[in-house]
Amino acid sequence: MTTSETTTSTPTSWMETPPQNPPLKRIAAEVVTTIPWLDTLARPLRHWLTNLYGQPGKSSYRIKDFLNGVWFGHPLHPVFVTIPLGAWTATLMLDMAWLKDMDETTARNADLTLWLGLAGAGLSAMTGATNWIDTDGMEQRTGMLHGLLNAGITVSNLTSAFLRMTGQRRAAITLATLGYAVSLYSAYLGGELSYSNAIGVNHVAWQGGSDDFVAVMNEQDLKPGKLTRVDVNGIPAVLYKEGRAIYAIAATCSHLGGPLDEGQVTDGVVYCPWHNSGFRLCDGSVANSPAVYPQPTFAVRTRNSRIELRRLEHA
Ligand code: FES
Repeated sequence: MTTSETTTSTPTSWMETPPQNPPLKRIAAEVVTTIPWLDTLARPLRHWLTNLYGQPGKSSYRIKDFLNGVWFGHPLHPVFVTIPLGAWTATLMLDMAWLKDMDETTARNADLTLWLGLAGAGLSAMTGATNWIDTDGMEQRTGMLHGLLNAGITVSNLTSAFLRMTGQRRAAITLATLGYAVSLYSAYLGGELSYSNAIGVNHVAWQGGSDDFVAVMNEQDLKPGKLTRVDVNGIPAVLYKEGRAIYAIAATCSHLGGPLDEGQVTDGVVYCPWHNSGFRLCDGSVANSPAVYPQPTFAVRTRNSRIELRRLEHA
């Protein structure tokens, strides 16, 4: 028996047991995979929103860039979700206090926080839906469910606000409290998308790079006008030669990890083949969303007819 056979055939029970997710996570995955109409709803909605924003370069696409957070250098959605969650937590506390003391000021403050949450929910929905259209598969289904739950919570809180205006405060409180309970599950789904599925995170954040120049290919093998993938000590990069200039940018798209070397270059911008994020070859900055994080770039030099790269630190 060889050493490798000994290693792979060790009859240890914990090694043979497949890893189990915690129950809440399993239930969430089960719900998302077993609701058949999530895809049926998601497809036309995604299609409609994609057509609404159009293609990069159109003025309508700038709205998409804005809502995705290109100007902010960070997704806007997590910033706005704090408004309804925080405000409606305050509503819940104030409603509970009102049930105890029936104080008019407490009631007014509860109403104020409810409306503040509704305003925040609108901003949160716009930024979330804009992020969502550039997801696929399971993430798109999870996002669809997350959005539907949030829409239901918003309608229920809007109804609660009108009930308060007509003096039906106890019914309004019941409705808002139920909505709050559902919002916890919806927030969990949103967290799953970010923390488990890496939606909205920088997919090149953990890619380091050598402080020294590393030879990657022969200069004569680099064809002008052709994206060429190379390896810089384990970090994938893509080279592009235009005239005498050679640009080098990380090959893994910061949005969801698409291969930039399979993309296209137009006017000094490389477009990702997966969701059309654009990055300027000269400095890796974002030309258009859905990416909001710039691509790492490399210093390029030629020595002894070999192209050498060194990672550049962005300011
Ligand atoms: S992976 Fe989505 S744009 Fe590149």
